Amino acid sequence: MRNISSLRCLFCAYPKNKFLSKYFSNQVHRKAEQIINEKRVIFSGIQPTGIPHIGNYLGALKHWVELQNESDDIYYSIVDLHSLTIPKSRDFMRDSIFNITACLLACGVNPDTTVVYQQSSVPEHTQLSWVIGCIVPVNRLKHLPQWKEKLESSIDGGGHIGRYTYPVLQTADILLYKATHVPAGEDQAIHLVLTNEFAKSFNRMHGKFFPETQMISNPTFARIRDFRDPRVKMSKSSPSINGRIELTDTDSEIHSKIKRAVTDCTSQVTYDPENRPGVSNLIQIHCGMCNITPEEACAIACNMDTGKYKSLVADAVIDQLSPIREKYLNIRKDEVKLKMVLDHGAERARVVAKSNWESIRELLGINIAEIS
Ligand code: AMP
Ligand code: TRP
Repeated sequence: MRNISSLRCLFCAYPKNKFLSKYFSNQVHRKAEQIINEKRVIFSGIQPTGIPHIGNYLGALKHWVELQNESDDIYYSIVDLHSLTIPKSRDFMRDSIFNITACLLACGVNPDTTVVYQQSSVPEHTQLSWVIGCIVPVNRLKHLPQWKEKLESSIDGGGHIGRYTYPVLQTADILLYKATHVPAGEDQAIHLVLTNEFAKSFNRMHGKFFPETQMISNPTFARIRDFRDPRVKMSKSSPSINGRIELTDTDSEIHSKIKRAVTDCTSQVTYDPENRPGVSNLIQIHCGMCNITPEEACAIACNMDTGKYKSLVADAVIDQLSPIREKYLNIRKDEVKLKMVLDHGAERARVVAKSNWESIRELLGINIAEIS
């Protein structure tokens, strides 16, 4: 039988009940239930930098929606301060915040049970970020791959301090709510390592306060690739709009982008992400859309060439995305309602953020409110 800690790792990838019923015998079931009854605090963030694409959807948003339940504390933040690291116009920012909020609701995020809010509405994010910056060594940040990439590609020697300290703010986002689980794509794993390292050193200095944080992701679709260049991940900022499918794309745009996706000269459909990234990317998307494994997808495609398989994948994507697109178009019209959702979320987030921040000040010895 598995021990408790390996159980904990396993089920972090699953919503509570699905996990239980699918995988465990009665005895293990009871143990798992005990652990599961511990309240989870789930936190994740998305930058308001454009309409989310199917990489965002499969790597993050789909998990965000599936994880929702009454018994955990769940925070999904529109991390506007993070997006300032690549400056955009005032109109673009405002529009993007509404777009992302509408996308979250259209995907099924429920603002009655889940706290949906703008990061900059809760000042404690940046306050905690300062504390973390006073503990994390400069050299630790220098070696993070995202900073190195930006350094190499930039003309101004790496740009601004904000780009450099971005992972520090992300650590603060997660720890401000003492989050135990973070549903996110593969590119965020490295930031979670930093979060846990920081939490451990803080706990060593000040006594156990922050929990360990686990990432929730499904390795099959935690890194969806660009259709025009399957060597790189699909990104909101990739140069070609044909490299990504956005959640608001029309059915015909979806068909056309998948039809033109770069594959290779073998016509068979086989799963080999290393050597056949293009066709494997389509398989991963198919798996994410239909909740199947790569083996099942290849079995479905066994008599098809890649051309025919592309049509099947496009249909699967359309089945999932077109209802989301219709909802989005409806919800997006009502900015007053969207603002009310964000204001309500911010109010709820502020209560917890303030209380945890006061405890942190206490531990640091900078809260002199209590005179003994
Ligand atoms: P961002 O758009 O960078 O704010 O990302 C929001 C979430 O989507 C994060 O959890 C990312 O890890 C995830 N994500 C972004 N791009 C991809 C991708 N190509 N494949 C899978 N997940 C992704
Ligand atoms: N860095 C994440 C991204 O680029 C966004 C983000 C900010 C985030 N804070 C977070 C994700 C906390 C998870 C948890 O996608």
